[in-house]
Amino acid sequence: MKIAVYPGSFDPITNGHLDILRRSLKVFDQVILLLATNGAKKGRFSVEEKLSMMKEATSDIPGVIVDSYDGLTVDYCLNHDAKSIIRGLRAVTDFEYEFQLAAANHFVNPDVDMVFFMASSQTTFISSSTVDELERNGADISSLVPPCVARAYSQKK
Ligand code: COA
Repeated sequence: MKIAVYPGSFDPITNGHLDILRRSLKVFDQVILLLATNGAKKGRFSVEEKLSMMKEATSDIPGVIVDSYDGLTVDYCLNHDAKSIIRGLRAVTDFEYEFQLAAANHFVNPDVDMVFFMASSQTTFISSSTVDELERNGADISSLVPPCVARAYSQKK
C-alpha cells in the first residue's frame, strides 16, 4: 500500500488543500492529512477546531486519515510507513520555500521524498491567510472553503 503524508497548518483547511488532497489520492492508496506545527505561525483556530474541520471536510473522501503531530514531519512518516510528503505549489513564489523544506527534510531523512502537485487554476490564489482576511472584511468565502469552515467562522462572530 502506498501511503503519503500531506502536512500543513490547515488554519483553516481550504478548497485548495482539498483539491491537492483529492488529486494525490489518484497516486497514493492512503493519504494522512497531518496537522503539523509551523513554529513561525500563530494559530487562528485551536488544534481541536482545526482537526475537527479537517475531519468533517474529508469525511466523504475515501483513503484519508486525519492526524496531528508536534515533531518533525519526516519522523512522523518514518513511524507510519510513509515514504512521501505531499505539498501543493500555487505559484513560483511557493517554490523557494518548498525547495528549502525539501532540503531540510532530506537532511533529516533521505528516504522520504517530497511530491508536489500544481494547484488547479481555480484555487491558485487561495491561502488560509487570504480566506481569513477576506472573511474578516465581510467577503463571501463560501466558494473557497468547505461548509464546516464557513460555519466555524460564522460561529466565531
Ligand atoms: N491551496 C490553498 N492554500 C495553500 C495550498 C493550496 N494548494 N498550498 C499551500 N497553501 C497555503 C496555506 O493555506 C498556507 O497559507 P497561510 O500561510 O496563509 O497560512 C500556506 O500556503 C503554506 O502553509 P502550509 O501548507 O499550511 O504549510 P506551512 O508553511 O504552514 O507549514 C509544515 C509547513 C507544517 C508542513 C512544516 O512546517 C512542517 O512539516 N512542520 C513540522 C516540523 C518540520 O518537520 N519542519 C520541517 C523541517 S524545518
